[in-house]
Amino acid sequence: MAANSGVFEPRNILVTGGCGFIGANFVRYVARNHPDVHVTVLDKLTYAGNPENIAGLPESRVELVVGDICDAALLERVVPGHDAIVHFAAESHNDNSIADPEPFIRTNVEGTMRLLEAARKYDVRFHHISTDEVYGDLALDDPARFSECSPYRPSSPYSASKAASDHLVRAWVRTYGLRATISNCSNNYGPYQHVEKFIPRQITSILEGIRPKLYGTGENVRDWIHTEDHSSAVWEILTRGRIGETYLIGANGEMSNIAVLRMILRLMGQPEDAFDWTRDRPGHDRRYAIDASKLHAELGWKPMHTNFESGLRATIDWYTNHREWWVASKAATEARYRAQGM
Ligand code: NAD
Ligand code: TYD
Repeated sequence: MAANSGVFEPRNILVTGGCGFIGANFVRYVARNHPDVHVTVLDKLTYAGNPENIAGLPESRVELVVGDICDAALLERVVPGHDAIVHFAAESHNDNSIADPEPFIRTNVEGTMRLLEAARKYDVRFHHISTDEVYGDLALDDPARFSECSPYRPSSPYSASKAASDHLVRAWVRTYGLRATISNCSNNYGPYQHVEKFIPRQITSILEGIRPKLYGTGENVRDWIHTEDHSSAVWEILTRGRIGETYLIGANGEMSNIAVLRMILRLMGQPEDAFDWTRDRPGHDRRYAIDASKLHAELGWKPMHTNFESGLRATIDWYTNHREWWVASKAATEARYRAQGM
């Protein structure tokens, strides 16, 4: 694909899924670092979306439109006038996709197609947020890491739906010349993450006096990155990335689930064996690991949060101090897990 000359300076960004975990952190990042940029958040406010996640930001710079990315008529009204779309909206949880894949195909595949069509019609720069899970998994004893050349090999309905959405973006670039980029990031942690996900589930369980739950053998490895580092990488790719390119985002944060859980227990003053084993997730990916050399070499991006333990301590403090933010969804989430034996 042709190289982008110069820097793209967006003024009016449409952020889909901006009331979810990573989207809201990105909106906050833009509001903090780029006060000349206006952000419209388009979010359906599913169980995972919460307007509180973007509360307190100046109304003149951040506007919320509640709606569905699958609604083509709504996109006709919302998209015109924006110079960029940053597309975070998705059904995002593997366990939910295993229990009920349908909403994943609708939002992640059909919803992405609707947005691509609107971006094409109104000639809007598009950045697609994706996951390293599209590449499947690596063996625990394999030194290899994922790169932009790794073959697509998704394991779960979630990762298959994200892989499909990546392919749609690539097709729109090649066939219609859409000005788009893709980033595939590793597992994020930080504030505002829904309590269904591993790290917040364990922290809030301990705060509620519930024993944390570890799937399978606990040896599965995830490559953790602080969500603020994901935000800064997305900004660099949006403004300076080459059109048509994919960039992997990661911060050398590989750790086994059992090591992360023991660290949480220790930081929260609990014995390191104060958890229960559960049955394994079907098709559970063993290991994710990102080689982010392309992002470093081309765009000079570097993560700020390089000490996982101190990032985790700050995350524990955030959940401890924001009980009102998570307490209602905690009960519903644990009831859902109990029904699945997890
Ligand atoms: P999340 O579940 O916390 O938030 C998703 C947001 O999208 C919610 O606000 C929800 O209301 C909204 N949404 C869902 N369906 C919608 C629809 N049809 N129309 C409009 N809005 C809708 O997810 P997250 O963890 O913040 O993930 C955001 C993106 O980042 C996803 O695309 C995900 O695949 C990707 N990603 C996540 C991780 C991770 O570690 N969580 C890692 C890499 C990539
Ligand atoms: P999760 O946060 O769901 O992210 P992903 O599936 O996208 O990697 O889970 C992270 C890891 O933690 C994954 O290997 C599954 C495991 N896990 C547990 O062991 N216990 C839990 O209660 C949860 C939610 C996840």
